[in-house]
Amino acid sequence: MIKLTPPMGWNSWNTFGEKIHEKMIFETADAMAAEGLPQKGYEYLVIDDCWSLKERDALGRLVADPEKFPNGMKAVADYVHSKGLKFGMYSCAGNLTCAGYPGSFEHEFVDARTFAEWGVDFLKYDYCYHSPIIPGKYLYRRMGLALENCGRDILFSACSWGADETHEWIKTTSSSMWRSTLDIFDTWDSIKDLVKQQEKLHPYNGVGCFNDMDMLVVGMYGKGNVGLKGCNDVQYKTHFSIWAFMGSPLMIGCDVRNLNDETRKILGNEEIIRINQDRTCRQPVKLHGTWTGDELLLYARQLENGDLAIGMFNLSDGKACARVNLDELGLPLSTGMTLELKELWTGEVSGVKNATIIRELEPYDCAVFRAKLVEL
Ligand code: GLA
Repeated sequence: MIKLTPPMGWNSWNTFGEKIHEKMIFETADAMAAEGLPQKGYEYLVIDDCWSLKERDALGRLVADPEKFPNGMKAVADYVHSKGLKFGMYSCAGNLTCAGYPGSFEHEFVDARTFAEWGVDFLKYDYCYHSPIIPGKYLYRRMGLALENCGRDILFSACSWGADETHEWIKTTSSSMWRSTLDIFDTWDSIKDLVKQQEKLHPYNGVGCFNDMDMLVVGMYGKGNVGLKGCNDVQYKTHFSIWAFMGSPLMIGCDVRNLNDETRKILGNEEIIRINQDRTCRQPVKLHGTWTGDELLLYARQLENGDLAIGMFNLSDGKACARVNLDELGLPLSTGMTLELKELWTGEVSGVKNATIIRELEPYDCAVFRAKLVEL
C-alpha cells in the first residue's frame, strides 16, 4: 500500500479507551457520514486497543469480544464500508497489547490474514511487551511483510512512539505512518510537548511514510480516556493547525456523535486540510523571524502550486507579536517579488509591506497563511 498524502480519519482511543462496542462504532460511522467527514478527507474509522478476547481460538486466531462486538468484526467492517468509510483495527508487535490483550508476536501472518478476511483497511501496530531480544525494526518488517502478502490493501500504521531510533529504520518497513511522539493527552502542556518532540524529526517526514504526532484532541474538552484538563477552542485551533502544517496524519479523537460548531469549524477547515494534504509533502522550514512574547513558533512550507504556507503559532499564555522577513523565504526585495497573503482562519487577504510580515497573536492563537507570489 502506498499512501501519497497523510492519512486522515478517526480513532477510538482518545475518547473511548476500552469502552468500545458495536453500537458506538456504528453510531460513529453514521455521524462521520452525516457530518460529511469522508468528503473532507477523513476516510478511516479505526478501532484501537481492547476489542478482542484475552485468548486466541483453537486455531491461534484473534477473537473479537462477543460482548462488545456480538456480530463479529466482519459485520463492523461491512457497516463502516457501507457509510463510505474505510475500516481500521489495532494490534501490537509484542506478546500483549498495551492494555493487556493478545498481541501479534509470532502470529503476524495469521493475524494479517484474519484482518484481511474481516475487511480491514488499516492496522495500527503498537510496541508494548515486545521482545527484548528481537530488534523493533525486525518486528515491524515482519508485520509489514505479512500485511503486504495478506491479499488486501491494508495501510500499516506503526506505533513505536519514536523508540529505538524509529526514524532511522521505519522507511525500511512498509509503514505509511509512524508515531514520532509519545502519547497525547488533552492538555495544552501535552500538545506543546509533542510539538517539541517533533521538531528534530521533520526531515524524516515525507511522501509515503508520515510522521504521526498522535491522534487529535480537538473537541474533547477534557472528556474521555485521555481527557484530563482539556483545552479551549483557541488551543484546539492551534493544535490542529500545527498538526496539519507539519504534515502529520489527522486522526480525530473526540466523540464525533456530538460535535459542536466550533469543533466542526476547526476539523472542517478545508484550506488548512489542503496544506496538510499538499502532494509534495515538503518539509516545513523553521523560521527565525523576530518576535516578542514567550514561546512562538514560525514555520513555512513550499506548496505544490508555487504557493507558500506560513504558520505563526503562539504557544504561550501571553500576547505575542511575530515578524517574518521575506528574505528567509527566498524572497528578498531584489527578486522584484512579494507575497499576497490569505489567512486561513479569518479569510482575510493582505499584502506585505517592506518585505516583512507582522502579526499580533492572542494567547495560544495562531495565524496560518497561504501566500501567493506577486510582482512588487
Ligand atoms: C499506546 C498507544 C496509544 C494507544 C494505547 C492503547 O499507549 O501509543 O495510542 O493505542 O497504547 O492501549
